Amino acid sequence: MAIERTFAMIKPDGVQRGLIGEIVSRFEAKGIKIIGMKFMNVSQELAEKHYAVHKERPFYKGLVGFITSGPVVAMVLEGEEVIKVARSLMGATNPVDGKPGEIRFDLSSHIGRNLIHGSDGAETAKSEIALWFGDDLVDWERSEDQWVFE
Ligand code: RTP
Ligand code: MG
Repeated sequence: MAIERTFAMIKPDGVQRGLIGEIVSRFEAKGIKIIGMKFMNVSQELAEKHYAVHKERPFYKGLVGFITSGPVVAMVLEGEEVIKVARSLMGATNPVDGKPGEIRFDLSSHIGRNLIHGSDGAETAKSEIALWFGDDLVDWERSEDQWVFE
């Protein structure tokens, strides 16, 4: 099995709209294991580091302003090919391009308010987990794993 880890974050719109439970439940229902979770405000410094890859894009300033505008839920997820799987559960960047069943399609309507972030590859996952959590992860045995994995 290719057990991976990824970073995910419910953005301020998801928190403000009362969708934390709905979004987390979709990861749980898929069989993804949560090994880190923090409800937190995002500092300007952390936001700029997180979105550094978009620094030259026209939406960068708005994005940093948005992500620092209210609390977020930062998570580290673990599971079979979870980097790809979590991105599939989230759906297309622009919610209008997605499909029913995707978090962004089902629950949001605008690219600038698309509820959730997920690491887009192995290197990004590694660096984003380090940036947001360092070593502050929870090592635990999940009793349902024998029913999720062969
Ligand atoms: P994310 O990083 O949030 O998981 O989203 P993503 O990989 O699907 O999309 P990415 O290209 O990394 O863009 C990061 C976030 O920037 C906002 N965005 N706005 N106005 C625009 O044209 C535009 N393009 C991107 C979105 O909120 C996107 O999630
Ligand atoms: Mg991205």
